Amino acid sequence: MAQLWGGRFTKKTDELVYNFNASISFDQRFLTEDITGSIAHATMLAKCNVIEEEVKDKIIEGLKGILEDVNAGKLEITSEYEDVHSFVEANLIDRIGDAGKKLHTGRSRNDQVALDMRLYVRNEIKELDELLKELLSTILNMMEANIDTVMPGFTHLQKAQPVTLAHHMGAYFEMFKRDRLRLGDIFNRMNYCPLGAGALAGTTYPLDRELTASLLEFNGPTLNSMDSVSDRDYVIELLSAMSTIMMHESRLCEEIIIWNTDEYKFVDIDDTYSTGSSIMPQKKNPDIAELIRGKTGRVYGALMQMLTTMKGIPLAYNKDMQEDKELTFDAIDTTKGCVKLLNGMLESLSFRKEVMEKSATGGFTNATDAADYLVKKGVPFRDAHGIIGQLVLYCIDKKCAIDDLSIEELKKFSEAFDKDVYNEISLTTCVDKRLTIGAPSRESMAKVIEIEKDYLKNN
Ligand code: ARG
Repeated sequence: MAQLWGGRFTKKTDELVYNFNASISFDQRFLTEDITGSIAHATMLAKCNVIEEEVKDKIIEGLKGILEDVNAGKLEITSEYEDVHSFVEANLIDRIGDAGKKLHTGRSRNDQVALDMRLYVRNEIKELDELLKELLSTILNMMEANIDTVMPGFTHLQKAQPVTLAHHMGAYFEMFKRDRLRLGDIFNRMNYCPLGAGALAGTTYPLDRELTASLLEFNGPTLNSMDSVSDRDYVIELLSAMSTIMMHESRLCEEIIIWNTDEYKFVDIDDTYSTGSSIMPQKKNPDIAELIRGKTGRVYGALMQMLTTMKGIPLAYNKDMQEDKELTFDAIDTTKGCVKLLNGMLESLSFRKEVMEKSATGGFTNATDAADYLVKKGVPFRDAHGIIGQLVLYCIDKKCAIDDLSIEELKKFSEAFDKDVYNEISLTTCVDKRLTIGAPSRESMAKVIEIEKDYLKNN
């Protein structure tokens, strides 16, 4: 047990207590952040004449040595230390002696861990954002390649109106684009440096908090020392944003699972992204899509845990806050992993375009357009709706589509029908007549694709 705080104690910590209290098994992830933060802190201390230049140089050299040795496997992080901060400080003192004992001047583990978590989260936000960008570019490629791939659009999982695959995937493009915007907002809101807040009340040393903040590329220092050590809002915001990302992924996965069924046969998931059954030789299961859908619950769970952990904590730091790490780390790993897998699955997914198009012709997906046709011929919309409703009933009975009926049959329902109706309610017209921005026509999709291309180029 290597502890930083033995002085006022007369008895050794109970072993169960030590293990319960320790965080080294998981906060060792912060090694790089802890050392980066300490280098900035030491640099600032020397600039402010709180420590000597030579001491600072020794500290920085020692810290860099620790990082190198751990990364090279020469130095092991063991449970002998309570947390990563104790590990680094103990090793620094081993290496450089008394100079190492000066590093913690004007600092507490409370502002230190607050900094480490911020540095870590800030970096993870960037990585997640990059992965989302890759996913968006895969989706955009699918959109470009499928601007003319007609498929049914659904409401209530019932065929509604024809759309295109480009249009359908475009909806997911918007979702994941918003997710990136959310990450950017969180980044900007959280990018302030808590170092210098001390345990809770700042310090009497003449620290230059602006300097530490700028060395660590923050927008500036945080403005309240109590809030600095006890704020985990940005963790909650990230967990919430990741829950939304997972929810979007899960919806797409659910659709892929449905499209992959024998009943739909819209897609073929690549062999590399499927698994088999141990008993049923014919099976090729969409396990990856199911797992992404399943893991969504895990990320939601982390959000609930964090909200609950924080809700009863009086100011300022309390040890409950050590619980901000494990589930957040897991949620970050899970979300990043799922974005990568979804991207790979989409890249290798093949679409059975004929099946999709055939499916779009059934299910009266042109019924609304047939009603609109009558409206254009002067029939009030509510009447047109009723006429087409009766027509649909008639077709269900005859097991045919509206456009399979002869003009004579159509006229029995309304005199307003004319020969031009066939063209007006054809699948292509139904899609390509929808010209408003955001609608599925080739023309509007082409415009949207250009806008999204520009967005990806500039963001
Ligand atoms: N391991 C602790 C955490 O993660 C570090 C801060 C410890 N501070 C304290 N006052 N015990 O929160």
